[in-house]
Amino acid sequence: MTGTAAEARASVPAHESSAGVPAHESSAGVPAHESSASVPAHESSAMARARELATTVLGTTSPNPAVGAVVLAADGTVAGEGATAPPGGPHAEVRALARAGERARGGTAVVTLEPCAHTGRTGPCADALLAAGIARVVVAVPEPTELAGGGADRLRAAGVDVVVGVEQEAAERGALAGWLTGVREQRPYVVWKVAATLDGRVAAADGSSRWVTGPEARAEVHRLRAGCDAVVVGAGTALTDDPQLTVRDADGRDADRQPLRVVVDRRDRLPATARMLDDAAPTLVSHAATPAELLTELFARDVRRVLLEGGPTLAAAFLRDGLVDEAVVHLAPKLLGAGPSLVGDLGISGIGSALSLSVADLTPLGGDVQIRLRPTRHTGGGTRTGGDGTDGGS
Ligand SMILES: NC(=O)c1ccc[n+]([C@@H]2O[C@H](COP(=O)([O-])OP(=O)(O)OC[C@H]3O[C@@H](n4cnc5c(N)ncnc54)[C@H](OP(=O)(O)O)[C@@H]3O)[C@@H](O)[C@H]2O)c1
Repeated sequence: MTGTAAEARASVPAHESSAGVPAHESSAGVPAHESSASVPAHESSAMARARELATTVLGTTSPNPAVGAVVLAADGTVAGEGATAPPGGPHAEVRALARAGERARGGTAVVTLEPCAHTGRTGPCADALLAAGIARVVVAVPEPTELAGGGADRLRAAGVDVVVGVEQEAAERGALAGWLTGVREQRPYVVWKVAATLDGRVAAADGSSRWVTGPEARAEVHRLRAGCDAVVVGAGTALTDDPQLTVRDADGRDADRQPLRVVVDRRDRLPATARMLDDAAPTLVSHAATPAELLTELFARDVRRVLLEGGPTLAAAFLRDGLVDEAVVHLAPKLLGAGPSLVGDLGISGIGSALSLSVADLTPLGGDVQIRLRPTRHTGGGTRTGGDGTDGGS
């Protein structure tokens, strides 16, 4: 796994609980259509667990990837588990090896991202696996950066049996999504979250919008925030709702780690008394002219995963520009009949031009429903070309 952003940027030509990605996604099975290197069932179970472990550290590892690792003893039983520590701390494999101890010898390491072969703030994970006497390594996603690449080759050269590409798509769409988007597109991954009534209203005609959804959905919002590096709203939401945008527990206490709060306020309309400006969490007041400009600004601050919390005008701007990677819609079984729609003007005049999304999953949240979707077709000029990463790998 890679080292810090600074390490990575120095040397590299450079997309699930607790942060951004629902817990059930990571632990869910692999999509039926996914072709994958085939591994025995106990290794596949370990890989599902590794994906789950990775989600538990989302929001704490950026700019490094959130990786999960499981070490199986030679008899195939679980000997140790680990996930990436905050930057500068041990990588997932090293933590899993430490917990496995001597039981790692002759065993198998199952990891969501190819072990690194470079020395950053920590030593190469490939060497740690060799030193522990691991005999087989099962990897989901090959390391995409030059800086940290070569781990699989180094392991193979030392006689270790290495399989790469196991359930790769599930891992790529899980906890690694934010980091991979950074490597490929030099921008953070964007999760657009919105709470709406059955008729798609995000607020009533009088502007009141509190408690559109119930306590379970609201608790999920705090979990989504915790899994992101930044939470973004437009000036309209900041002025109308005066949200605090912090991560709080069920008793309303602020979490220890808070994502960056961001308000895009190009005309400096936010009053000094706004709750977003309290000292509960860091806040960025951005004057970015476009969503792309904002994402560039956030990427430079090591943000790899953004929760876009509105409102309809800013969400429409992101959607028009093809800059929403995932949508999380909390739908309340209520009707308002009037009030702002969940998204503003997308510049679409005919049904044939509708922005299409595919449903990734549906989850009941108390009396509400969570729908997680991915845009499958974009309006506007958003480009999603790949490219060399600028940030280091695992
Ligand atoms: N239920 C929900 O989940 C939810 C969530 C959020 C909001 N809401 C509701 O939404 C309503 C507010 O709607 P809104 O559309 O005014 O909020 P908004 O999208 O948060 O804010 C719109 C403002 O953002 C600024 N902005 C910054 N960058 C922009 C860009 N690239 N493109 C367009 N605008 C940009 C603009 O102000 P400047 O030009 O001054 O920068 C614009 O007027 C409230 O009633 C609120 O309760 C509901």
